[in-house]
Amino acid sequence: MTILVTGGLGFIGSHTAIELIESGHEVIILDNLINSKLEVLDKLFEITGKRPIFYQIDVTQQAALEEVFQSHRFDGAIHFAGLKAVGESVAKPLEYYYNNLVSTMVLSKLCLKYGVNKFVFSSSATVYGDQISPMREDMPLQRTTNPYGETKAMSERILMDTASVNPDFSVCLLRYFNPVGAHDSGLIGEDPNGIPNNLMPFVTKVAKKELDTLSVFGDDYDTIDGSGVRDYIHVVDLARGHLAAIEKMGPGVSIYNLGTGRGTSVLELVEAFTRVNNVVVPYEVVARRDGDIATSYADPTKAEEELGWSAQKDIEDMVGDAWRFEQQNK
Ligand code: NAD
Ligand code: UFG
Repeated sequence: MTILVTGGLGFIGSHTAIELIESGHEVIILDNLINSKLEVLDKLFEITGKRPIFYQIDVTQQAALEEVFQSHRFDGAIHFAGLKAVGESVAKPLEYYYNNLVSTMVLSKLCLKYGVNKFVFSSSATVYGDQISPMREDMPLQRTTNPYGETKAMSERILMDTASVNPDFSVCLLRYFNPVGAHDSGLIGEDPNGIPNNLMPFVTKVAKKELDTLSVFGDDYDTIDGSGVRDYIHVVDLARGHLAAIEKMGPGVSIYNLGTGRGTSVLELVEAFTRVNNVVVPYEVVARRDGDIATSYADPTKAEEELGWSAQKDIEDMVGDAWRFEQQNK
């Protein structure tokens, strides 16, 4: 298949491009580089031996995007492009609503116009809100606590409503849990600008002594050791979930959790990082972070039953690969 990958130079998009190329698909990448670097294209070439066609385009710009649709015939689109920093979305709500919603609307409109009938969307476990884990796809969604989360819930709705009146248009909503890790080549991984908000990139910076101390946000949750529990998923497993989705998705709308089904606490993750990589990660326990929930992990059985996909990598692989990338690339 020929697949359009928006946001394809970003963290999850670049790993997915590799899995698609290595499975024989042709990949065309769009990215405006707002949170990624052009050099990732060279890394994709180094890893796969193929250089995907790339357009530096903002997906909200319909005219520019339409030229791409006029130049290529796509069998499907995977829509990763979006802004993703929860805290920043509270400070800049309009930027988040505009970018994340308009990009989804413009892309789906052009997919309909040009008969591109497979649309895979990057959603998030955040749409479940604070419910009791494991999260299942048929749970009612809860209002999220920030504009970023709202853009995911609203994009899901937009795509579901569009699919319901366009029977040939298939939509697959993938709800990611906590993507971490890096490609085992060490060439690509997570490289956020500035001080990281998320746990794993913060831990790697502390291990590298670029930051002094990890703040553990709370040790009084009702969890195994009081720290927050999440379902960390290796980005390569996540990328393979997209490959399974685009190859196997059926008609209409399908929704899948992409997680491991296993919860890991902050302190367990720090312990695994220290043990596997033999580095010290100094930490201190501080107050809870606003908006955090105690526990979030997936019930991943639907993806296993319907897509034949399940996560294969464990927390040791995740902390090892994250550290290898940090050491090799910065
Ligand atoms: P990322 O920032 O590394 O990648 C997103 C890419 O999209 C970047 O390369 C950025 O430059 C590009 N982009 C943003 N807006 C664009 C636009 N208007 N036009 C063209 N390109 C644009 O993020 P990621 O972690 O790879 O996330 C990919 C998707 O998955 C996002 O939609 C994100 O919200 C979603 N998601 C991520 C996580 C996570 O924890 N990483 C969890 C759940 C969902
Ligand atoms: N944490 C710390 N210290 C830090 C950073 C995080 O203790 O410096 C803790 C958090 O309190 C939480 C856990 O580590 O218990 C994970 O936090 P992250 O910020 O890494 O991830 P979140 O679960 O808060 O959210 C992430 C993405 C969201 C996405 C969600 C579900 O940031 O965009 O996963 O996919 F919606």
